[in-house]
Amino acid sequence: MATAMLSAYATLSILKLNIMSNENKSIHEFDFNLICEYFSSMERQGPGSPDATVNALRFIDNLTNESRIADIGCGTGGQTMVLAQHTSGHITAIDLFPTFVDLLNTNAAKRKIQSRIKGIVGSMDNLPFRNEELDLIWCEGAIYNIGFERGLYEWHKFLKTGGYIAVSEASWFTAERPDEINTFWQDAYPEIDTIPNKVAQLQKAGYVPVANFILPESCWTDHYYVPQVEAQEVFLKKYRGNRTAEELIANQRHEALLYSKYGKYYGYVFYIGKKI
Ligand SMILES: C[S@@+](CC[C@H](N)C(=O)[O-])C[C@H]1O[C@@H](n2cnc3c(N)ncnc32)[C@H](O)[C@@H]1O
Repeated sequence: MATAMLSAYATLSILKLNIMSNENKSIHEFDFNLICEYFSSMERQGPGSPDATVNALRFIDNLTNESRIADIGCGTGGQTMVLAQHTSGHITAIDLFPTFVDLLNTNAAKRKIQSRIKGIVGSMDNLPFRNEELDLIWCEGAIYNIGFERGLYEWHKFLKTGGYIAVSEASWFTAERPDEINTFWQDAYPEIDTIPNKVAQLQKAGYVPVANFILPESCWTDHYYVPQVEAQEVFLKKYRGNRTAEELIANQRHEALLYSKYGKYYGYVFYIGKKI
C-alpha cells in the first residue's frame, strides 16, 4: 500500500477504498487493520477539541429532549461524547469503519449513555435518515470525504425547517500562500477554499450562515498532533520493519511539520448554518 507522503486525508481515503473493495484482500486487510489500529488509539481522528465542539453548539438554539441529531463521520466518537454531554436528544453517530463505531458504542456504554447514542456503520453518501427527520447535523473534520458542497446539498433534505448544520472544514485564512503548502493541499483536498468562499457555498446550498469561527491552534497541536507523538513511538516499536506502519507515521509527521510551518495560512473552520 503506497501511503508515502500522503496526508491523513489520503490515508483515511485508502482505508475507505479498502473497505469498499475486495481486491487483494489478503494483503490489504492487514494494512487496513494496521491503519485502523493507529487511528483507534487516538481520542480523535482529526483536529478539534471539546471546547470547540461546545463553542459551536452555542449557536444551536432549537434542541430539546426529543431532538434527533446525526454525527456524521464520527470516528471513535471524541466529539459525540461532548455532544451527548451538552444536549439531551438522541444522537445517531455514523462512520464507515466498524472498528471506530465499535469503540464509540463501547465508550457510550461505559458512560451509561447508550440509550441516547447509537453508533452505526454507514456511509455519508447514503445516509439512513428520512426527509426532515433531523434537528441537527454535526460533522467534525469529515465532510471532505464527500466534499463540502456535495455534503451540504445532499444532507439538506434530512433537516427539519429550523434545523441546523455544523461542520468543521479545512479552509485557507489568506488569499495567497506559499507554494509548498498550496501544493500539499491541492493534492490532498482541492476543495479547500477561503472562509468567504465557504460561507457563500453554505448559503448557496440553502442555509442561513449563522456563524463561523476558526478552531484554535491547540485543536491541531494539543488535541491532535501532540497525543500522536507517544502513540507513534509505541506503534513503530510494535511494527518495526513494516513498510505500511513506517509510511503511515512518516505521513503523519510530515503533516504535523507542515502545520508547524504554515499553520497561519490554513486550519479548520466551524461553519454553522440554519435551514429556513
Ligand atoms: C478526520 S476523521 C474525523 C473523525 C472525528 N469526527 C473527529 O473529528 O475526531 C474522518 C472520519 O470520516 C470517516 N469517513 C470516511 N469516509 C466516510 C464515509 N463515506 N462515510 C462515513 N464516514 C466516513 C472516517 O472513518 C473518519 O472516522
